[in-house]
Amino acid sequence: MRGAARGPTLDLFCCEGLHMSLNRRRFLAGTAALTLLPNATLSAPAILRAGPVTAQILPDSKNTTQLWGFNGSTPGPELRARVGETLTVRFENGIGSGSAIHWHGVRIENGMDGVPGMTQPLVEPGQGFDYSFRLPDAGTFWYHSHHRSWEQVERGLYGALIVEEATPPAVDHDITVILDDWRIDRDGTLVEDFGNRRDFSHAGRLGTFARIIPSQDTVRRGDRVRLRVINTATARVFPLEITGLTGKVVAPDGMPLETLRDIDRTFLAPAQRIDLIGDVADTVKFIFPTGQDPYELGDIVADGNNPKPIETPILPLPPARVTPPSATPDHRLTLRLQGGAMGGMHGGDDIWSFNDVSGMSDTPWQRFSRGDTVRITLINDTSFPHGIHLHGHHFHEVEEDGSLGALRDTTLLMRQQTRDVVCVFDNLGKWLLHCHMLEHQAAGMKTWVEVV
Ligand code: C2O
Ligand code: CU
Repeated sequence: MRGAARGPTLDLFCCEGLHMSLNRRRFLAGTAALTLLPNATLSAPAILRAGPVTAQILPDSKNTTQLWGFNGSTPGPELRARVGETLTVRFENGIGSGSAIHWHGVRIENGMDGVPGMTQPLVEPGQGFDYSFRLPDAGTFWYHSHHRSWEQVERGLYGALIVEEATPPAVDHDITVILDDWRIDRDGTLVEDFGNRRDFSHAGRLGTFARIIPSQDTVRRGDRVRLRVINTATARVFPLEITGLTGKVVAPDGMPLETLRDIDRTFLAPAQRIDLIGDVADTVKFIFPTGQDPYELGDIVADGNNPKPIETPILPLPPARVTPPSATPDHRLTLRLQGGAMGGMHGGDDIWSFNDVSGMSDTPWQRFSRGDTVRITLINDTSFPHGIHLHGHHFHEVEEDGSLGALRDTTLLMRQQTRDVVCVFDNLGKWLLHCHMLEHQAAGMKTWVEVV
């Protein structure tokens, strides 16, 4: 195996022991213009074809990276539709390995969820699969491979899925910002040490280089923008600071907040999203704060002035139509996250487990009746952070004061952290519940529930 890029690296400890090592290579303002930017399409292409692509990940154009993508680019094309519409996409598998597409965060009908062996057959090389499903919620979602995802997502098989509100809020630009890291050498070569035991038992595959890929790279001062940030990394939790913009967080994981939050430093676990609406004061910078010099993930350059800025207040988005949980839950459960390096003993037969069971069992962890309100206490009994994702539903995070917090489909638990979530299981079928550190998922941190 080749090592990660040599040369100056940033070694730092943050987010409660998450060890990060990043190549100290900076973005310079203006170098963000890239050839791989997928242009936002206002409608979805009829076909998503997975295949090899040559991508410009490093800022210098001579060093490219061989990855996989959809329709010739990674990220794949941005799919855009309106809430309530039906999205119909044919997937064609042009890579030399089985695959399938999962539509992350969509409260989808079970047969379209894209989990091979559970909701559909594996799509073999050269074969295809027709996806067609209704989009019940407006918001920022994404799609990605759900087979050997620790390799296929890392190689680039993902893209944004944007569902617009019936009446979108007034903004000058609606910009999707993909945030990812890659394990590449200094010349851009992908380090192909997928599936190694060290990554599986520690924090997962962390890259040597990280950056944003924005759908647009300039704005004007005074523009009102909506930013939809998506963490597509396989394992990295990004601490994130966004400067140059005054505004509000309007939606985590695509689901509108009733009470808007300030744009502060935030953490985004793999698969989590955050929507912001704000007014541009200066170049919008995306910064990975570190104990030392901040690592610049890239920017959207402010060029010129908007002569007629939008002055209306930034308001909450229309609420999602979710079933409210009942005051007394029908079930109270505990899910203990166990294993990994420096973790204690557990009863599972792989590196990671939930409640002493590693990986998929023949019978579901739980079977719920449709409409059950379930309160789950998640206990992270490991030395690493985990982003726990439930398919087919969104759940409320319970705040420290006991109130019901934001709806999410992925919740971040720092090491040794405990959090309750409350979910109304109202979507029929078999649903995965797993860690979105994709190496942890592959090494046992996954289970499933059934709603009947
Ligand atoms: Cu985004 Cu089961 O995954
Ligand atoms: Cu994990």
